[in-house]
Amino acid sequence: MAVTPVDLNGAKILVTGPTGQVALPVVEHYAKTAEVYALARFSKQADREKIEALGARVLAADLADPAALAVIPQDIDYVLNFAVVKSGDFDYDLAANGEGVGNLMTRCSGARAFLHISSTAVYEYNGHEPRRESDPLGDNHRAMFPTYSISKIAAETVCRFVARQLGIPTTIARLSVPYGDNGGWMYYHMLMMQQGIPIDIHPERPNSYNPIHADDYIEKIPYLLGAATPQVTTTNFGGSQSASIEQWCAYIGELTGFEPVFNETATAFGSLCIDTTRMHELIGETRVDWRDGIRRQLQALAPEVLKHRTK
Ligand SMILES: NC(=O)c1ccc[n+]([C@@H]2O[C@H](COP(=O)([O-])OP(=O)(O)OC[C@H]3O[C@@H](n4cnc5c(N)ncnc54)[C@H](OP(=O)(O)O)[C@@H]3O)[C@@H](O)[C@H]2O)c1
Repeated sequence: MAVTPVDLNGAKILVTGPTGQVALPVVEHYAKTAEVYALARFSKQADREKIEALGARVLAADLADPAALAVIPQDIDYVLNFAVVKSGDFDYDLAANGEGVGNLMTRCSGARAFLHISSTAVYEYNGHEPRRESDPLGDNHRAMFPTYSISKIAAETVCRFVARQLGIPTTIARLSVPYGDNGGWMYYHMLMMQQGIPIDIHPERPNSYNPIHADDYIEKIPYLLGAATPQVTTTNFGGSQSASIEQWCAYIGELTGFEPVFNETATAFGSLCIDTTRMHELIGETRVDWRDGIRRQLQALAPEVLKHRTK
């Protein structure tokens, strides 16, 4: 591994989007050893309580509103920007996701490093070709989330602009399919299999991705921060193993006895697996085998379905 991980022990870390599926386990983990500030709009009281119970400090603000970000302490050491909004309203989503990262970086310009979580949804569809960081971008997720890919591309551009203007060491990590004991895409697939609901897949099969378990993405965060430079490091960020929807549904079937029903449609996202070369050079391989991760997920979220096991 080329990168020396930063030491987050005792650091002041700002996590945006802390109530989301991806960042919640990050908050839970780092709040035990660091001073974690958690920023979201927090329209639901239950979300505040959940975050406070983990030992993090709640900051209520909308990233689209620069003045509201005055609630952020000015001596934050590291920023982990997980927040995202997919309201479908282009004006708001571009303001919150695109301008929002600029508002945040401007407020936290003294941070030692800034990690912006992007998505492989920024890549143009290209069948089974593992996507490299230099590959063409496109409106990949339009069919399901009209503003998402465009917002994520806009956010990366704003992020690079501000990092270079203000000299903020920054990494952009294009996340593949995150999952863990609190959920993820394959958990929805299990629920669909349980209820006999067809699962959309692209006709160019198999539909391959690089699922990354929360244990792995939590462990890699200090490395991603260590890779940050003011010129901005952009890297794919997924599991070292690739796995397809077809494979993980078959495995869920083995564990539960539920059978997947696939609906082939060209509007499904389609394969989006990553070239892991740069990621491995920077931060090394991931460790959790996707089968173990899925089994653990079902044990955590729906142990009763494992009783249906037939094989
Ligand atoms: N989940 C995936 O499969 C996946 C795949 C690839 C990449 N990613 C990336 O991973 C990151 C986290 O995704 P997620 O699925 O965990 O998201 P999520 O579950 O939709 O959560 C979004 C978070 O952002 C906060 N937020 C939304 N709008 C905000 C605003 N205007 N100002 C401040 N906070 C705001 C939300 O809290 P409030 O509503 O209270 O503000 C919530 O905490 C995103 O950057 C996403 O693009 C996710």
